[in-house]
Amino acid sequence: MTHRRVGLWLIGAFGSVGSSVALGLAALKRKHVDTTGLVTALPEFSRLDLDPVSEFILGGSEIRHDDFVNAASAVGGGMPAYSKSLIESCRHDLDEWSANVRVMAAKDRNFDSFQHELRDFYRRQQLDQLVVINVASTEPPVELQADHNDLVGLQKLVQSDDLQLLPASSRYAYAAIDASFPYVNFTPSLGASIPALLALATSKDVPVAGSDGKTGETLVKSVLAPMFAARNLKVLSWVGHNILGNRDGKVLSDPSIRKSKVRSKDHVVADILGYQPQSLTTIEYVDSLDDWKTAWDHVHFRGFLGVPMRMQFTWEGCDSALAAPLVIDLARLVLLAQRRGEAGPMKHLAAFFKTPLGAEEHDLTRQMAMLMEYAHSISQ
Ligand SMILES: NC(=O)c1ccc[n+]([C@@H]2O[C@H](COP(=O)([O-])OP(=O)(O)OC[C@H]3O[C@@H](n4cnc5c(N)ncnc54)[C@H](O)[C@@H]3O)[C@@H](O)[C@H]2O)c1
Repeated sequence: MTHRRVGLWLIGAFGSVGSSVALGLAALKRKHVDTTGLVTALPEFSRLDLDPVSEFILGGSEIRHDDFVNAASAVGGGMPAYSKSLIESCRHDLDEWSANVRVMAAKDRNFDSFQHELRDFYRRQQLDQLVVINVASTEPPVELQADHNDLVGLQKLVQSDDLQLLPASSRYAYAAIDASFPYVNFTPSLGASIPALLALATSKDVPVAGSDGKTGETLVKSVLAPMFAARNLKVLSWVGHNILGNRDGKVLSDPSIRKSKVRSKDHVVADILGYQPQSLTTIEYVDSLDDWKTAWDHVHFRGFLGVPMRMQFTWEGCDSALAAPLVIDLARLVLLAQRRGEAGPMKHLAAFFKTPLGAEEHDLTRQMAMLMEYAHSISQ
């Protein structure tokens, strides 16, 4: 295993996911926790030249003052998700990494400042590679226009302050890709999902991946929908009610922002089945639930001789503990891809996302087969 200094820059570092990633990396480094939840810890990945989790140096950006110890302690709110003793045992790294997080005033949230912060972190930490992962609050949806198609148009949008045409997630993606740092969008925000940015990533040999981590209800949907398809059972309607209470839930209670998430969750079933059953996806903020998300799904389907039947399931997950290991997996896989000279949308990472960039496949089993095939093909 070659020794390298690798950096992970988290946009939205002090959020529930960001601070869970920091705690997770620090705890894994000390072997205070095992690798449960990490896909890259499966035996199929053991012969890949992935960066050890102990090698990552964290930095990031925020719009709020906080630190990783406080933020990780707050995950779960009234029912803290992570133990005090675990957090205390990781304090040294968490404090060191907190000092690498830049809190940016609204006037500084632009292409030039983002790129300056990234390059500065890269240089100061003497990194060999740096990956940028967006775990910031979800933004409202953006309708793509002609200016999103090429770099000339994109430059115009960068000069304008109009966040409705080019949101912060995309300004950040542009700054990262332009500086040759791989960019991963773990949120449903626009990020790098812009024709001009995808083309730039390919031409600059930069891997990009996204969008919106597949961690809970949609993960289950992407396993169950293929079952209905495989048995030729006709899904009549699929209703999913989600309730959650963390900061993400609060942000999503704004109807214009919620639209991005619902859009990202809702298309998976129809894409797998090849037809659109009646569908309803709701996301409601329930303060007392903190980071514990409950999803209740009701599937109405028809079988042989027209017989109607139902299936229901309930998923109760700690959102951030589900998301954090995937962020670590993505950082390791994307850095490896960059070293291998891979560029543009990373199709083999589709299994991690609700709306995979560059891949049409939503069936988790097939997505995992793509990932395992990739791992096998590059095993040393
Ligand atoms: N937890 C999951 O299972 C999961 C799954 C898929 C996607 N996501 C997405 O990941 C994101 C993070 O989720 P979370 O639960 O950590 O939310 P959170 O609200 O706890 O954290 C988001 C953080 O982003 C910061 N932020 C907002 N705008 C910013 C900006 N422009 N620049 C820098 N920082 C900014 C906020 O201050 C906050 O600390 C959300 O978009 C969520 O939808 C989460």
